[in-house]
Amino acid sequence: MAYENILVETSGPVGLIRLNRPKALNALSDGLVTDMEKALNAFEDDPAIGVIVVTGSEKAFAAGADIKEMAGFGYMDAYLNDFITKKWGRLATCRKPTIAAVAGYALGGGCELAMMADIIIAADTAKFGQPEVTIGTIPGAGGTQRLTRAIGKAKAMEMCLTGRMMDAAEAERSGLVARVVPAADLLDEAMKLAERIAGMSRPVTMMVKECVNRAYEATLAEGLLFERRVFHSTFALEDQKEGMSAFGEKRQPAFKGK
Ligand code: CAA
Repeated sequence: MAYENILVETSGPVGLIRLNRPKALNALSDGLVTDMEKALNAFEDDPAIGVIVVTGSEKAFAAGADIKEMAGFGYMDAYLNDFITKKWGRLATCRKPTIAAVAGYALGGGCELAMMADIIIAADTAKFGQPEVTIGTIPGAGGTQRLTRAIGKAKAMEMCLTGRMMDAAEAERSGLVARVVPAADLLDEAMKLAERIAGMSRPVTMMVKECVNRAYEATLAEGLLFERRVFHSTFALEDQKEGMSAFGEKRQPAFKGK
């Protein structure tokens, strides 16, 4: 499928989406998020794909919602179209593991989009922020919620109330990103990580993801019960037999995804 605002490619079991509106620092226009939603749907439906990577350019992962596009919106435009999560939220609902590879600006909706991924890997040039307050609005795609869960109330409150940007080192210290790598290595590192995850049992990676995400929604007791039930269900998989046999036989497992 041809897209106007993103570039899509695959590398073995990894699906890669590059946000591609360089003149607007990948501002998340309706066209861009529509393209991204379609590409994510296609990767989710493609049995050859095990992991999805989303990235931007050297200068910007994404500088937020498209301010010029939304500047004239009235309340009913926002409300009736469920602006903004209707299409954007697709990344958060993917069942396959997702990685955001972030270089440069990840601001406003850009930071929120990155936080919808399961893992953020940052280039040392990355800058995260929720500057909505500086343009008279608030984060609208999860910024006040996911950022607070990721880095705690004090820093999230400071960032959302001032629009201050956080550099990559602070983002790693604060638990927002899994790892910081030199900018030149960002995509390679993200693809290597994706390939490593895609080499595991597909259903098991999906189960891990479901269980970790459950920690955000459930009490500890409910989360532990959920985890235990899913853990028990892995014993129905051929991949569990293969993984444990391979360990005993001192060889690499060959997972079949079932
Ligand atoms: N929307 C639309 N266009 C944007 C944009 C955005 N979010 N961010 C940058 N652009 C455009 C600029 O208007 C500019 O276009 P022109 O050349 O046509 O003027 C081009 O991208 C390059 O930007 P700058 O010249 O500003 O580049 P810079 O290097 O001087 O500054 C920046 C970079 C600090 C990221 C600055 O562009 C900026 O502050 N951008 C806006 C960031 C922002 O406020 N994001 C939050 C948006 S609201 C939101 O996301 C709501 C939500 O929660 C979902």
